[in-house]
Amino acid sequence: MEADIARILIHRDKITTRVKAMAGEISAAYNGDDAGLTLVPVLSGSIIFLADLIRELPLKMKIALVQVSTYPGATTSPGDPQTLLELSGDVRGRHVIIVDDILDSGRTLRRVQAMVTRHQPKTVRTAVLLRKPARAPADVPVDFVGFDIEDLFVIGYGLDFDDHYRNYPHVAVLHPELMP
Ligand code: IMP
Ligand code: MG
Repeated sequence: MEADIARILIHRDKITTRVKAMAGEISAAYNGDDAGLTLVPVLSGSIIFLADLIRELPLKMKIALVQVSTYPGATTSPGDPQTLLELSGDVRGRHVIIVDDILDSGRTLRRVQAMVTRHQPKTVRTAVLLRKPARAPADVPVDFVGFDIEDLFVIGYGLDFDDHYRNYPHVAVLHPELMP
């Protein structure tokens, strides 16, 4: 795997520090509000971020899963998002935080935000580890952002290329000859 990596963009230590700080920002946003909280991770890219984030969050919470596929197979340009798994828990009247790895074109989060909203939660916020500001559309609000990055295709810390490299501990860029 290491041989496929061209360069590390964000080292795991820097991610750890930022994720802890984000947990602080999220806790502060819900401070004193006792309506239930449900985190809605978008599978599969958010799993590593989710695992690290929730262990830094001292809030009582539930988790409800959604799965949306945007990048079919070995491609790096988005197609139309497909819902593979509808919300796996009841969020009616609850505070929801949608958790995703990255805000790129915004198609995925636009779809998930609409899906969650149909279930009548009390509030909906969104947390992403990464955002590509050059591409992020204005109509897809995100409340908590780990890092803004350049418009590059990245892997690691949950992010994949053709379902590989999710376990690479840093956010990194692959050698260009590996990508279409
Ligand atoms: P969007 O729908 O274009 O905003 O893309 C969001 C989804 O596409 C994310 O949940 C990721 O799974 C995937 N994605 C977008 N950009 C990248 C990238 O640079 N590397 C890996 N996956 C990405
Ligand atoms: Mg994803």
